[in-house]
Amino acid sequence: MIKVSHLSYSYPGNSRPTLEDISFEVKDGEVIALVGQNGSGKSTIGRLIAGILKLQKGSVQIDDHIYSKGDGLRGNVGIVFQNPENQIIFNRIDDEISFALGDLASNEIEQRIQNSLKQVGMNEFRNQDLYSLSLGQKQRIVLAEALARRPKYLILDEPTTMIDSQGKEKIYQLIRKLKDDGYTIICITNLADEILMADRTLILHQGKIVAKIKRTELVQKSNLLLKYGIHLPTLLQILIGMEERGIELSLKDYTIAELLNNVEKKVKHGC
Ligand SMILES: Nc1ncnc2c1ncn2[C@@H]1O[C@H](COP(=O)(O)OP(=O)(O)OP(=O)(O)O)[C@@H](O)[C@H]1O
Ligand SMILES: [Mg+2]
Repeated sequence: MIKVSHLSYSYPGNSRPTLEDISFEVKDGEVIALVGQNGSGKSTIGRLIAGILKLQKGSVQIDDHIYSKGDGLRGNVGIVFQNPENQIIFNRIDDEISFALGDLASNEIEQRIQNSLKQVGMNEFRNQDLYSLSLGQKQRIVLAEALARRPKYLILDEPTTMIDSQGKEKIYQLIRKLKDDGYTIICITNLADEILMADRTLILHQGKIVAKIKRTELVQKSNLLLKYGIHLPTLLQILIGMEERGIELSLKDYTIAELLNNVEKKVKHGC
């Protein structure tokens, strides 16, 4: 469990606080989408939870440990930065991924490198220099790096913004699989489709949490997403349009294809 309590944060030199009195809890196995417009403070929350930024006011509890001012990185939290260029240290992919694996046995390290590269669809690039990869490919490598550590908690800061649409779909499948495997994930995002993967969506506006929406409430509360400038996922737009026409479909469907299968079943069974 991650419990964020009354977190406020100001960057040095900024006249206004970046975050004000942020509180929320993430249960084990939950996927949370943290959305909001540029500059609303999403990445700052991620950095504070992971311990990359030092806490100023409020606390972060991870399982039974309460972190406060002065504490550093949290061992069981993996974070994937918004910009992979800020995360990559080495030029060889093996060095980059094994860096955080510490004193694991070499065959275990090899296994983890192979598995994590496969998970993000980058195994065939293993021997290429990191500097020669595209930004999207680098983004996949830093994701592989976080996965290789197998932390209980993952914070993904806009994990697919630089990844092409085919690659995005792969990462979405991966996030769904990670959830099935029991990972607890905070997905910071500006992309409508990523909201659909989350059990709950938190909307951040000017450093404050202004709404917490369960997945099952997304259709009813879609006006809140719109109010704070969040684009609605196409699937949600379809469901809202259907509901306006008296046809109710559950939001258990993650993709348009799954939705169509559901509609097909309803039509064939005449209900
Ligand atoms: N290192 C920094 N020094 C000073 N101010 C910062 C720093 N990083 C972020 N800020 C400020 O804090 C505010 C929130 O930034 P943050 O990066 O957390 O927002 P965000 O919601 O992640 O935005 P984006 O969608 O653009 O990634 C912004 O006004 C930004 O200017
Ligand atoms: Mg950000």
